[in-house]
Amino acid sequence: MLFADRLPVHRKPVLLRLLRPADVEAFLAYRSDPEVARYQGWSTMDRAAASEFLEDMSGVDGLRPGEWIQLGIADAATGTLCGDVGIHCDEALERAEIGFSVARPFQGRGYASAAVSATLDLLQAVPSIRCVRGVTDARNGPSIRLLERLGFAKTGVQVADFKGERCAEYVYERAC
Ligand SMILES: CC(C)(COP(=O)(O)OP(=O)(O)OC[C@H]1O[C@@H](n2cnc3c(N)ncnc32)[C@H](O)[C@@H]1OP(=O)(O)O)[C@@H](O)C(=O)NCCC(=O)NCCS
Repeated sequence: MLFADRLPVHRKPVLLRLLRPADVEAFLAYRSDPEVARYQGWSTMDRAAASEFLEDMSGVDGLRPGEWIQLGIADAATGTLCGDVGIHCDEALERAEIGFSVARPFQGRGYASAAVSATLDLLQAVPSIRCVRGVTDARNGPSIRLLERLGFAKTGVQVADFKGERCAEYVYERAC
């Protein structure tokens, strides 16, 4: 269940690492970008909430059953935070769900592919986890392509009320 001792993971061009309080500027910049937030369940945070969140996530030492944790995606060349990966596990630690965001200036350069691939390796080291899933808005082409590129298969379609709008979500799953 513990995997924080496996971090950071260097997977060119990113460093997957714990988030830090010092990431607050970069974190707020992409989390406040409406294009990045468009299909995400999280809400924009103010600076105080972001600092508190980063402080909490800087102390992550493993999966938290029934809760989301977030890991930082840093640009390996500069150390700058450029996105994050969320991981949620069920209470039995058998099923995980992931979410991911990359700041617009870093998109289209393989950052999310590398970070999600490294996250899947971390989850594979947790013996009880059998399945990883990703849920994406049906209109979110980059997210769908990323999941399919990393071996996820579409296993369902669900209707959701999201940000005041009725929409279709695709459920993708991959054995772990
Ligand atoms: C979905 C999202 C995380 C993808 O991030 P990204 O870093 O741009 O993804 P990647 O760069 O790994 O892949 C995107 C493209 O870059 C291309 N690319 C360029 N260089 C690449 C490289 N070295 N390695 C892999 N892909 C590369 C890929 O071909 C890919 O193109 P395609 O999607 O047309 O096939 C990003 O669009 C995002 O943050 N969106 C907003 C948040 C969101 O909606 N998240 C999903 C909800 S869970």
